[in-house]
Amino acid sequence: MKVLVVGSGGREHALCWKIRQSPLVQRLWCAPGNPGTAAVADNVDIAADDLQGLLRFAQQERIDLTVIGPEAPLCLGVVDLFQQHKLLCFGPDKLAAEIEGSKSFARELCRRHRIPGPNFWTYDHPAQARSFLDNREDGPIVVKASGLAGGKGVAVCKNNAEAKAAAADCLEKRRFGEAGTTVVFEEFLTGRELSLITLTDGQTIVPLEPAEDHKAVFDGDKGPNTGGMGVVTPVPLMPRMAAQVESQIVFPTVHALNREGRRYRGFLYAGLMLTTQGPRVLEYNCRLGDPETQPLLLRLRSDLLPLLLATAEGKLADLEAPVWDPRVAVCVVACSGGYPGEFKPGVPIFGLDRVAAGEDLQVFHAGTARRGGDLVTAGGRVLAVTALGADVAAARARAYAALRQIEFVGMHYRSDIGQRA
Ligand code: AMP
Ligand code: GLY
Repeated sequence: MKVLVVGSGGREHALCWKIRQSPLVQRLWCAPGNPGTAAVADNVDIAADDLQGLLRFAQQERIDLTVIGPEAPLCLGVVDLFQQHKLLCFGPDKLAAEIEGSKSFARELCRRHRIPGPNFWTYDHPAQARSFLDNREDGPIVVKASGLAGGKGVAVCKNNAEAKAAAADCLEKRRFGEAGTTVVFEEFLTGRELSLITLTDGQTIVPLEPAEDHKAVFDGDKGPNTGGMGVVTPVPLMPRMAAQVESQIVFPTVHALNREGRRYRGFLYAGLMLTTQGPRVLEYNCRLGDPETQPLLLRLRSDLLPLLLATAEGKLADLEAPVWDPRVAVCVVACSGGYPGEFKPGVPIFGLDRVAAGEDLQVFHAGTARRGGDLVTAGGRVLAVTALGADVAAARARAYAALRQIEFVGMHYRSDIGQRA
């Protein structure tokens, strides 16, 4: 088979690394890819949201399956476009991808189908948003740009004054452009967060193993939120909580989408808060998580490609459920100085040659580039060091030992990934 992976982050490096191992693969490309994907696939210089460019390439090379990593092309309708040209493309179509593309749609879907989430209120008029805040008791509240804002559209506010500023950022200053023309205010929930990603063709539902992301930039969940600083998987869940997650959230979400004529094919990511009241949906994504994918794929023993193919064809029921390595995987992200704020790209990275990668340890490239022969930083999240171990302590030890071999000016990472587990 000829396969094209779309995207350029750590998630796509992990996807290419895993798909490369499939005996079914004859050729593998990544668009646009990064220096990590270049080691396992042929990079082709087409941007992930250049839908026509991707289509042309897929037609020209007669690609059998295109696998979309990030949300942007899915929300733009890349799957619909490929379908019109009789090409197989993995991921939800535009209507189904709206579950990530519109937070207000996702919230209302939950309300209509009694899927547990925080209380919420949506506004698109600044005066109404202000008046809502003026009339509520002061206290923590979450403000979200409804549309796609590259992971930056969420403000967890301590009080109404902060929330007013965040709402004005969206509705008046248009900080997120079109993505912020509607804001969603959400009840502030507390508890432990869980990422649960499900593979589904709209009929068969295959939950992947639960993972815990760490969103805040500093140890102890301090500092501003990021795209994800590290992940541990699996996460031990109380049997009652695990059952509630499936019966109250995963199955009802797929059913709700079907009921509303949005058959979902792809990875459906539910970001959950495990509250004392039970699990609550914080957000949905229409794709794999980054960095959740890296440790999940290190643990996946089954061939990924048949699963992707069967999902895209709507035949997931034909396959055995995936087999997981029972060991623990820990992923720690090394970031550029300043991230998640301003950072300077182009900083040389040293020491990757000192890391002995293998079945139990992979360094996935997230934001790197080649300058001449040298590897340099090219993003906020630079490398995702991912390791397996017999238990969390062993996986942590392996990941952090590798991180200590790597250096670049400004590099920082959390030292407590997996500690809670
Ligand atoms: P989201 O992109 O919607 O998952 O939001 C990013 C992060 O903000 C989440 O991972 C949580 O840490 C936090 N967050 C989002 N919504 C809420 C909420 N309703 N209550 C508390 N924290 C939240
Ligand atoms: N790691 C969170 C996300 O992929 O959205």
